[in-house]
Amino acid sequence: MAKVVESVLIGRKDIDLMCRRVAGDISRDYAGKEILIVGVLKGAFIFLADLVRYITVPVKVDFIAVSSYGNDTKSSGVVRINKDLDEDITGCHVIVVEDIIDTGLTLLKLKNLLQTRGPASLKICTAFDKPSRRTVNLEPDYCGQVVPDRFVVGYGLDFNRSYRNLPDLCVLADEEDSDE
Ligand code: XMP
Ligand code: MG
Repeated sequence: MAKVVESVLIGRKDIDLMCRRVAGDISRDYAGKEILIVGVLKGAFIFLADLVRYITVPVKVDFIAVSSYGNDTKSSGVVRINKDLDEDITGCHVIVVEDIIDTGLTLLKLKNLLQTRGPASLKICTAFDKPSRRTVNLEPDYCGQVVPDRFVVGYGLDFNRSYRNLPDLCVLADEEDSDE
């Protein structure tokens, strides 16, 4: 059953400014270096595509797909790799690009895993962040926008695999659409 988009939380113009700002910060911080951007599929694909076009230092791109799961009684946040990186990251300046950080469990596990592969440096960049939901000690090095504790869709983020193509970051209504 479809849900209704309640409102636009962050419009496309503000998202564009956000991408320019974050890319500017990254370009300054990595002057003279080459970056390996690791996109976390699937949600990060649109943010990554926008971000890399504003980055002015040399960039390589790779993707990883993970799912985190625990069980109902213990949300231990085991992360399973569904698609691993194609390239070796040893000695690379890696920036993991994520769509949104919620509890932080997924990225904490992913960060620990990638750290074992010997990157020269490893940082986290997220489009959106819900710090009020954090349960672990994980802060992004680069963050587009802090968002309230609402379920958001669009700009790569999904509900039941839909809505990723919305150009704005939107809030879904709590009620489901009655006429399906
Ligand atoms: P954790 O809790 O491990 O989870 O930080 C991060 C992942 O949870 C998903 N997530 C959302 N997806 N709208 C979404 O479409 C949301 O508001 C939302 N909050 C969390 C997302 O997959 C993210 O990578
Ligand atoms: Mg995700």
